[in-house]
Amino acid sequence: MKKFYITTPIYYVNDRPHIGHTYTTVLADVIARYHRLAGEDVFFLTGTDEHGQKVAQSAEKAKISPQEHCDKFSQRFKNMWKKLNISYDYFIRTTDADHIEVVQKALQKLYDSGDIYKSTYEGWYCVPDERFWTEKDLKDGKCPECGRPVVKIEEENYFFRMSKYQQWLIDYIEKNPDFIQPDFRRNEVLGFLKKPLNDLCISRPKKRLQWGVELPFDTDYVCYVWVDALLNYCSAVGLYADDEKFKKWWPADYHLIGKDILTTHAVYWPILLKALGIEMPKTIFAHGWWMVDEKKMGKSLGNAVDPYALESLLGPDRLRYYLMRDMVVGQDASYSLSGLVSRLNNDLSNDLGNMLSRITNMVSAYFDGILPAPAESVDSETEKIQKVISELPAKVKNDIDRMKIHSALEDVNSAIRAANRYIETMQPWVLAKEGNREILGTVLFTATQLLAKAGILLYPVMPQKCSSLLNAIGFSGAISIETASADVVVDAGSKIEKPKALFPRIDLKKARASLGLSVKPPQKSEKTEEIITVDEFFRSQLVVGEVISAEYAPNADRLLLLEVDIGTEKRQLVAGLAKWYKPEELRGKKIVIISNLKPAKIRGYESQGMLLAADDGKTVSVLTVDKDVPAGSKVR
Ligand code: MSP
Repeated sequence: MKKFYITTPIYYVNDRPHIGHTYTTVLADVIARYHRLAGEDVFFLTGTDEHGQKVAQSAEKAKISPQEHCDKFSQRFKNMWKKLNISYDYFIRTTDADHIEVVQKALQKLYDSGDIYKSTYEGWYCVPDERFWTEKDLKDGKCPECGRPVVKIEEENYFFRMSKYQQWLIDYIEKNPDFIQPDFRRNEVLGFLKKPLNDLCISRPKKRLQWGVELPFDTDYVCYVWVDALLNYCSAVGLYADDEKFKKWWPADYHLIGKDILTTHAVYWPILLKALGIEMPKTIFAHGWWMVDEKKMGKSLGNAVDPYALESLLGPDRLRYYLMRDMVVGQDASYSLSGLVSRLNNDLSNDLGNMLSRITNMVSAYFDGILPAPAESVDSETEKIQKVISELPAKVKNDIDRMKIHSALEDVNSAIRAANRYIETMQPWVLAKEGNREILGTVLFTATQLLAKAGILLYPVMPQKCSSLLNAIGFSGAISIETASADVVVDAGSKIEKPKALFPRIDLKKARASLGLSVKPPQKSEKTEEIITVDEFFRSQLVVGEVISAEYAPNADRLLLLEVDIGTEKRQLVAGLAKWYKPEELRGKKIVIISNLKPAKIRGYESQGMLLAADDGKTVSVLTVDKDVPAGSKVR
């Protein structure tokens, strides 16, 4: 059986879990669950990072021991993951005795092999980040990472010979294109490695910090928290303790991280492994950040969105769906409650939920709740939708394998929309009136197969809702990719039940109130952009936008709904292009957008900008850019 080992970063125990941590963990969970559905043997690791100055300080403030403090706060992460149905196989804590033992063994090995040496350090130190900086690293005399003041220190410390492995790392990254992903992050790391690499200070004198792993070769020191933390990925699977286990799981297939911790994972970690003679992980994948009003969401910025409140408003599955659907893995995404509400109402209430209730209602009304068999030969509309249905599992798998989770969800959703259109075209209620039971049965059978495939393929994202969906349509097989790939997923004769509304519509005003937000949403565009009308086009701001997704607007034949990344955020655009373009022809295109138009409602859909196109009276051609400039580039 193929093994699959996936990790999240271990989170600082001091933080309260926010949407950023929640995102990485849900992403890892979704990928882990897909791999389990594909029949692989999966190990999914998460945990908490518990040593260091900040933890010691917080414990002192609370007048409890650091260990008590960690026990209390680590539990908050566990509680959150339980609420969100995170199916981790192991939760590691860096204060676990067996982890500490592994860190000490690793340090001793490095010391014995001569890769650790003692020297005097003179330079700048950022106390909250626990990091050393040279004079030239500083930005305006402050910490280049967090912008806080630094202090000058001179002390004896232990150093790890990172510089010795710099060329090896460059060659390794160049030879292994999958090692750091996405590609632009690999280039960023290679760019960083053009400058000479300093040796890494891996100790902290106990007189300054005691809450850490003691160096095995000098008890006056503890280990730098990142060296301790990174080793969790190996200690969790038995390094130096259980060879068989380690052999089974290592190397990790994916280290999922946020872009904020790329250097530690893509430079320190591989060099540590190399020096220890341990195989490299297969892929380090850095995703982007959730932003609020164009700023990174985080505790220190005071703009962290509380996953507890969102979970109690939405339940776990809809929160999971939103996080997976609205971030293109690798890029930043902007969080807004209105975006969340419209995404969930559109995809889940209008499309999937609507289809489920239509089909279950009709099977109940016309066939006493027993799924009818299809006709032997079918009409061309049914053939068309059958093709969409049968291609869906492979499409989704391909997207997941390429980390395009949002596309996988879009694939399922667009199949559901196509099936809703198929139902409109076939008008089963008319077929029922006419007594055309053969075609009526075919329509209901066919649509039910799609619901079953969607239920399986969306299961890793929404395990509870999908179980209810699959139960409602009488599915009794094993939830697996193999089952989803079969032609018939639910047999004729299965008992169909009318489920309770699985995805009730969310009311934005009520949602705002339940989250304790003021009822009038902040007018973001008023704050950041000048609002103009079309007549004032003169003053328009033009930017390059990348089309992330495109789809036909339900119930509005001429319109396409586009989701466009304009660098700082994603926008929904409504364009009268359906006559000239198929949605897939626009996906991925870099187009030109007027970004500061007052949002307008077109046939009930909000358009947050306009795209430019040429029109010669016969055809319409969308303006694109000649070179591959990034989304958000200004058009002057
Ligand atoms: N303890 C270290 C990691 C050690 S791993 C050996 C750490 N912890 S953290 O609590 O700060 O978590 C950082 C991770 O949380 C990021 O890498 C990212 O995965 C996630 N996020 C934190 N804020 C985020 C956003 N605003 N958006 C998306 N994810 C971000 O660093």
